[in-house]
Amino acid sequence: MILVTGGLGFIGSHASVSLLNAGYDVLIVDDLSNSSIDVLDRIEAIAGRRPLFEQMSLLDETRLADIFQRHHPSAVMHFAAFKAVAESIQTPLAYYNNNIGGTLALLSRMQIAGVRSFVFSSSATVYGSPATLPIKENFPRSATNPYGRSKLIVEDILTDLVASDPSWRIANLRYFNPVGAHESGLLGEQPRGTPNNLMPYLLQVAAGQRARLDVFGSDYPTKDGSCVRDFIHVVDLAEGHVAAIRYLKEHVGMTSFNLGVGRGISVLELCEAFERSTGQSLPRQVAGRRAGDVAECWADADKASAELGWQATRGVEVMCQDAWRWQCYLDRREDSRETSGEPAK
Ligand SMILES: NC(=O)c1ccc[n+]([C@@H]2O[C@H](COP(=O)([O-])OP(=O)(O)OC[C@H]3O[C@@H](n4cnc5c(N)ncnc54)[C@H](O)[C@@H]3O)[C@@H](O)[C@H]2O)c1
Repeated sequence: MILVTGGLGFIGSHASVSLLNAGYDVLIVDDLSNSSIDVLDRIEAIAGRRPLFEQMSLLDETRLADIFQRHHPSAVMHFAAFKAVAESIQTPLAYYNNNIGGTLALLSRMQIAGVRSFVFSSSATVYGSPATLPIKENFPRSATNPYGRSKLIVEDILTDLVASDPSWRIANLRYFNPVGAHESGLLGEQPRGTPNNLMPYLLQVAAGQRARLDVFGSDYPTKDGSCVRDFIHVVDLAEGHVAAIRYLKEHVGMTSFNLGVGRGISVLELCEAFERSTGQSLPRQVAGRRAGDVAECWADADKASAELGWQATRGVEVMCQDAWRWQCYLDRREDSRETSGEPAK
């Protein structure tokens, strides 16, 4: 049984499907602070099996203890966190409390219960503004905002934990830019309010819900002046987690892995790929640079390939088509709610 925290969120829901497909039993813990309960039905619809589910915050230590006592998980995948950079600057205490406090509660409970296998959702944001590309796992780390710092601090806590007790098995996964959706169109990213990330915003523009996409910056020293990122399909990312769980069976200690495609795509290239692969037009305009954006960021993904036996396989067209299928599902659902007078979730 794998305990998946934040398993109803964007990445956790896809990882839960991949785990179920690989034959694992899954117990999801989520407080629904950034997800909705019907994701559980859709995970079941895709995987053909329903994960166990507990609605609770990781900060509720009494319930967490009870979960470990009742279910005896063999490993934990820890997705639950707040993730909006701008919001983290406004409310740093909430971010440190949830992202660090939640992780500490979880690790402490694992220690008491004798559960030692842990997969952590870190981020390429810990590399700050890299001096050279592609980014390797041993590059220097830094943070420019509370969200990024919460990831850095947890990485340091994990390093200290392994130093104190080498029987821990920790895979520290640094994600690059997850986009796309499950090919069924039933799971994807569903931001509340105005999306912070490029793909959900782009989808709402293509769906006619927003007038146009602002492309932040046209004068970066990149191939076309827009920022370059390592966009990775969320299902590839999810499969990387299953590979990490298998890896931990054979390896003690803590190992960090970049989960990216290993190739940079510019924001303008992504827009063109979206139009080409979906046939939808994407009104866009060039806007000024956004504070805090680095010009280029992509992974050296060789370590994950060599040691996890995992590589991203889905290309940018598939990322766009799957994401668009998800947006169409959301729109159809919204339409049927409006017709039936049901409130939106
Ligand atoms: N999406 C990205 O671009 C990205 C990139 C790098 C790293 N990450 C990390 O990956 C993880 C998952 O990201 P995501 O995009 O799926 O985010 P998400 O917000 O969609 O999912 C997080 C889930 O955790 C839940 N949650 C939050 N705090 C909780 C708590 N205290 N107790 C229980 N549940 C809680 C939320 O309700 C949500 O369902 C996060 O740790 C995030 O920082 C995400």
